[in-house]
Amino acid sequence: MLKKIVFPVAGVGTRFLPATKEVPKEILPIIDKPLIQYAVEEAAQSGFADFIFITALGKEALERHFAPNPELDNFLKRHRKSHLLDGLHEFYQKNFTYIRQEQALGFGHAISLAQGAVGNEAFAISLPDDLILAEKPVMAQLRAVYEKYRCPVVAFMEVPRHDIPRYGIGAGKFIADKVFEIEQLVEKPVAADAPSNFAVIGRYILTPDIFPLLKNTTHGAGAEIQLTDAIVALMKKRRVLGYFFSGQRFDAGTTLGYIETLIHVALQRPDTRAFTLRLLRQLAADEKI
Ligand code: G1P
Repeated sequence: MLKKIVFPVAGVGTRFLPATKEVPKEILPIIDKPLIQYAVEEAAQSGFADFIFITALGKEALERHFAPNPELDNFLKRHRKSHLLDGLHEFYQKNFTYIRQEQALGFGHAISLAQGAVGNEAFAISLPDDLILAEKPVMAQLRAVYEKYRCPVVAFMEVPRHDIPRYGIGAGKFIADKVFEIEQLVEKPVAADAPSNFAVIGRYILTPDIFPLLKNTTHGAGAEIQLTDAIVALMKKRRVLGYFFSGQRFDAGTTLGYIETLIHVALQRPDTRAFTLRLLRQLAADEKI
């Protein structure tokens, strides 16, 4: 049974100010769909049914996004436009839990707050800033690995050396195609100290024994309580796997990454692809730019 998934969405989103002064960064749209909805849809398509948000003051729009809005529904019905909310309606019935992180003590601390809602079950974590376009949803790929090996699984991809300090970096020995047993893991190392260029991407399946370890985790990189450090402690107790997922990952949490994400999603969508291609070709051909 693996049906609970945690979305840490308490971050302030300083990189997107002033847009994020009043609007949660997870509501910023990639074309016409908020970033968070991509992550929630991916989770639903991967068989998750209980959605746990670790949220913060000022993030109320996230909660409202996944709840019915009778006035809007009636308006759309009257104008025969209800289909515009297709894909969102199905979530009105689902089980959403919102937990307030009152102090910004880090990603690991945010996850520790989910303990009561998760209980004694394996669970997933998804970081909505990491948008992953894949034929098989990446969370479903991780679920398959978890179901085969019955141990915690962390998503990985290779990154260029200069990007190493932005990520959790791991290394270990391969036990199957794309699957390795993590032997070393370090949060945001300098490139010279990194054990590899294998970077943790924001998708995890963990077991509930992570919670007591999170409680014992002290401040790590960036003076925050890091999930990575608790996973290192978990690795001393049980096997933790790394998995190289199939798909294209975009970092929608930075302004440049956001632009890249928009363009790629526009190139994937049948209704925007031709226009975007034409525009990019025109721009590339125009020497004035
Ligand atoms: C978090 C994790 C880091 C991981 C990254 C992936 O960092 O702590 O290990 O590589 O997500 O996006 P953050 O980006 O929140 O600083």
